[in-house]
Order: sequence, then C-alpha cells, then structure tokens
Amino acid sequence: MTLHLDNLPRTIYVEREEGKPRVVMIDQRALPGELTWIRTADWRVVVDAVKTLAVRGAPAIGVAGAAAVMLAAFELAGSRVGAAAIAGGGGAAASSPRVGPGRPAEDFRSFGGTSVWAAADGWGFRGALEAVASEVAEARPTAVNLSWAVRRALQTAFGALDGGQAAQEVSEALYGLVEGLIVEDEAANRRIGAAGAALLRERARALGRPLRILTHCNAGSLATAFYGTALGVVYAAAAEGLVERVWADETRPVGQGARLTVWELARAGVPATLLCDNMAASLMAAGRIDAVVVGADRIAANGDVANKIGTLGVAVLAHHFGVPFFVAAPVSTVDVATADGAAIPIEERDGSEVCPHPPEGVALYNPAFDVTPASLIAAIVTEEGAFAPSALASALVM
Ligand code: MRU
Repeated sequence: MTLHLDNLPRTIYVEREEGKPRVVMIDQRALPGELTWIRTADWRVVVDAVKTLAVRGAPAIGVAGAAAVMLAAFELAGSRVGAAAIAGGGGAAASSPRVGPGRPAEDFRSFGGTSVWAAADGWGFRGALEAVASEVAEARPTAVNLSWAVRRALQTAFGALDGGQAAQEVSEALYGLVEGLIVEDEAANRRIGAAGAALLRERARALGRPLRILTHCNAGSLATAFYGTALGVVYAAAAEGLVERVWADETRPVGQGARLTVWELARAGVPATLLCDNMAASLMAAGRIDAVVVGADRIAANGDVANKIGTLGVAVLAHHFGVPFFVAAPVSTVDVATADGAAIPIEERDGSEVCPHPPEGVALYNPAFDVTPASLIAAIVTEEGAFAPSALASALVM
C-alpha cells in the first residue's frame, strides 16, 4: 500500500488577507459530499463552528479556541477599547475591566455582532479578552484541549500586556501562538504515530501478519491540525506495512466514522471498511479484529478516558475477546486536575441528532461522549511515549 498523506487537506490554519488575520477551517458538516472551507475574521463564527461540529475533534477545537481568542484580540485592538488600552500604555495599568463583579461575562455575551466592542468601550482590553475567552472555552465542555488552548492564549496575551505591549502587538503575539500551536500539534501527532506504531509492530510480529484495526469516531487528520492521533498511529504503522485494513465504526449519531474517517482513509490510501456500530461484536467474535485504536477528549488522572459515545462499548468488547485496546492522544488531553472519569463533564447534545422527527411523546437521549475505565485500556500513547493508563499522570508530572 502506498500512503498518500499529501492528499489530506489541512484542517485548520491562519492566514492574512490584505494584512488582516483570517481563520480557515474545513467545514466538516459538508463532508464527505463536499470539501469546503470556512474563512472568517470573526471569532463568533469560529465559536459557532465549534458548537455545530464544523470543526471538531479535541486537538482541532483547541486550535480553533486559541484562534477565536486571537481574532477577538485583533477586533478589540481596532476598537475604542483597544485604542483606550493603547493610550493608557497597554500594560496592566491600562486594563481596567468592568468585567467581574457587576459586569459578568454573561452580560458581555448579550451584545451582538460588531457592536460588542463599542458597547464594551471602557471595559479594557484585558477584561474584554477574558470575557471572550470564557465564552470560547465553554463552547464544548468535554474535550479539555479547548480550555487548555484558550488558557495558553490568555497566558500569551497577559504576558505581553504585562510586558507593556499595546493591544495590536498582543494580537500579533496571539497570531504567532496559533501558528505555533498548529506546528506543535502536527509534531505531537507524528510522535504519537511513531510510539503507537511500535506497539502495533509487536502485535503484528506476534500474529505473524499485518493487522486489521478497528477505530471509533474520527481521531484522524480531520480531528487535529494535521495527521491525527489514532489515525496517526494507523498512518505510521501503514507506512511500515503493518496494516492490512481499518474497520471504521459508523459512530452514531453524528457519523464521524461514516462521513469522515473512511473519507480520510480512502484519500490517504489506507484500505478501509465501514461498519455499523452494532457489528463490531460479531467481527471480534470471528477473530477479525487484531487491535483497537481510538482517540480521547479528556484523560483523567487515574487513566480513565472520555471519548466519543460508543467507545466504552468497543472497549468492553475488546476486553471480552482479548483484543488490545489502545488510546492515542496528546499530553494536552490529559487533565490531572480531574481525578477520574466520573468527574469528566459529558456534553449532552440536541436530541435531533439522534432522531430529527421522533414520534410524539418520545424523549431523546444524546450524550456525545462516554468514559472508558483505565482497566480496559492496554496503553495510552502520547507524544512522550506509551504508558499504562494508571502510570500516565505521574509519568507526565515528573
Ligand atoms: O464530537 P467530536 O467529533 O468532536 O468527537 C471527537 C472524538 O471523540 C475524538 O475521538 C477525539 O476528540 C479525539 S480526536 C484526535
């Protein structure tokens, strides 16, 4: 098999149009039918893209979150608030936010469109940016990469402000941060790929043949800036001739497997077979799955993993049938502040994703993620190497 990673489009990037910053994202809602991009200078459009799954996957929404804060900073820098911050020196002394007691972030959200900055005049650059950041970080609750990246954006902005930089310079620093996050993400994914391929090499050697790998949801290039986590492992292993085929779960209700994973694998030249979520059990029973590789949205300190709804069922099956179950994720997905899976907030999405027209009187249940206990996971593969789930947090903290 010849890999064609050059056929994979970049999921999210930033560019300048006549000097003005833009965020460019594949609109994943239109795949696989159409490959189109959202190109915007408006942070609200980026937040909407995150909420509506135009951009999705933990690392990709992290980049999107930082990019939204960057666009807000440029907008603010060009407004009267930004001008006021510059006139006051732009440093800590210039930030006199009226966000806080009496002016919570919620008030801020009630302003619409471009009037937000005019209405916010006098709040101060720092406070207004903080209010936007909390709105961005709340767009989706489960993937910790989003709040992690927004926090990095705020650290960059506040560091620059404390260093006496003006709002425009702070915005430029944020632009540089987003470019850096994109480079970092791809580099981490390639290292995850190499570490995961080493595990699959052992498995292929033990079985004496290339592997048939099951994945759930899309933890591919489309879920990251480029390359992917779980599919990054597949790409690295496929490059070594270790992969016979990928079985891709359809992934109800949104269909990330059916719409995205098989599209991406086909473009990359990896043999892929799409199956309904309820078919994995019979495949495993028949001995036709050699390993499972999935991504993660948040990994708790004890090694429990939140990932797309349905992942838990696959892990239980894999355990029952003795198939190794691997999780691939960057260190930014590990949340040592969350003790265990029970403490991970699980996003509940609109029931219309499950059934657009239910019979009258029927309730709909639509949690977007579930939690796989550490005990069902053979290894968690990060850019720092592969770890037993229970050893991950302490290994990363030292
Ligand atoms: O709701 P989604 O599509 O954002 O869910 C994505 C997943 O669950 C992925 O498996 C996870 O984010 C890892 S992506 C590298």
